[in-house]
Amino acid sequence: MDKMTKSLPENSFRRLSLKMVQGVPLRKTTAENFEPIANFQARPDDLLIASYPKAGTTWILEIVDMIDNEGDVEKCKRAPTFVRFPFLEISPPPPVKPGVEEADNMPSPRRLKTHLPFHLVPKSFWEKNSKVIYVARNAKDNAVSYYYFDKLNQRQPEPGTWEEYLEKFMQGNVAWGSWYDHVKGFWEKKDQHQILYMFYEDMKENPEREVRKVMKFLEKNLPDHINSKIIQHTSFSAMKENPMANYSTMPPAFFDQSSISFMRKGEVGDWKNHFSADQNKVFEEDYKKKMAGSSLTFRTEI
Ligand code: A3P
Repeated sequence: MDKMTKSLPENSFRRLSLKMVQGVPLRKTTAENFEPIANFQARPDDLLIASYPKAGTTWILEIVDMIDNEGDVEKCKRAPTFVRFPFLEISPPPPVKPGVEEADNMPSPRRLKTHLPFHLVPKSFWEKNSKVIYVARNAKDNAVSYYYFDKLNQRQPEPGTWEEYLEKFMQGNVAWGSWYDHVKGFWEKKDQHQILYMFYEDMKENPEREVRKVMKFLEKNLPDHINSKIIQHTSFSAMKENPMANYSTMPPAFFDQSSISFMRKGEVGDWKNHFSADQNKVFEEDYKKKMAGSSLTFRTEI
């Protein structure tokens, strides 16, 4: 057992149940400590990376770090993702510090991570006009990725069978709530704030174009050879092998990667290997209803 795991109380290793905060099921520890999260003080030069879980958050974080460090790979390997980027709403068992405390202690300019839906993001981000990068992924691949993640992450509720899980996903009865509300929530507000809305499928299709978009948003103009270095370092194969990006430094008592890797497949269209024809039909009918009236569209293959 590693040092960090040994120092934690016994109940740290239980899967957490969900508890509602303003209509959104969140992990119990987050829901019960929500006040400091809601009151978190953003700074104008913060960058918030927001997403529904499993949309490609870790990928965008690595791209942002490479842009900040102008392609210096060694600097980006200074610490694991979860240390470089405080996860705002995470409330781990002591002695590990809550995300908001980690963020408070961080010098500017800060790069912060959240999975909170738009209406639960601390208000100060909008008051301070901080920049936000939102990344979204098509619902089918997102659901498959989340199912496997809930198997490996021992702090998430038990996912059950794929069939059971898909039902819960469609009902929004999973941690951080409804995918449909989440992606629509940021989409509807993107023009009222400094929000760059990105798609996982676009990043897979043309990483060079998408990295340029992020650079422009961060007001950085780096030469082509640095852009190439960023794409290489943030490719799926490179990140899968990078211990500072693949969560292999997370104690196995929390992240059990013995049979499923955090960097699992990294593809568009893996849903086809999981959805039965019947599941696909039911999912699509329900999807149409939930997304009706929204101009937001996704690609489920590229
Ligand atoms: P899969 O489970 O489909 O493989 P998040 O960081 O939001 O938790 O998202 C994790 C998902 O993004 C996983 O999807 C992971 O493999 C994928 N991912 C991470 N880095 C990636 C990269 N560089 N390229 C493509 N996909 C990546």
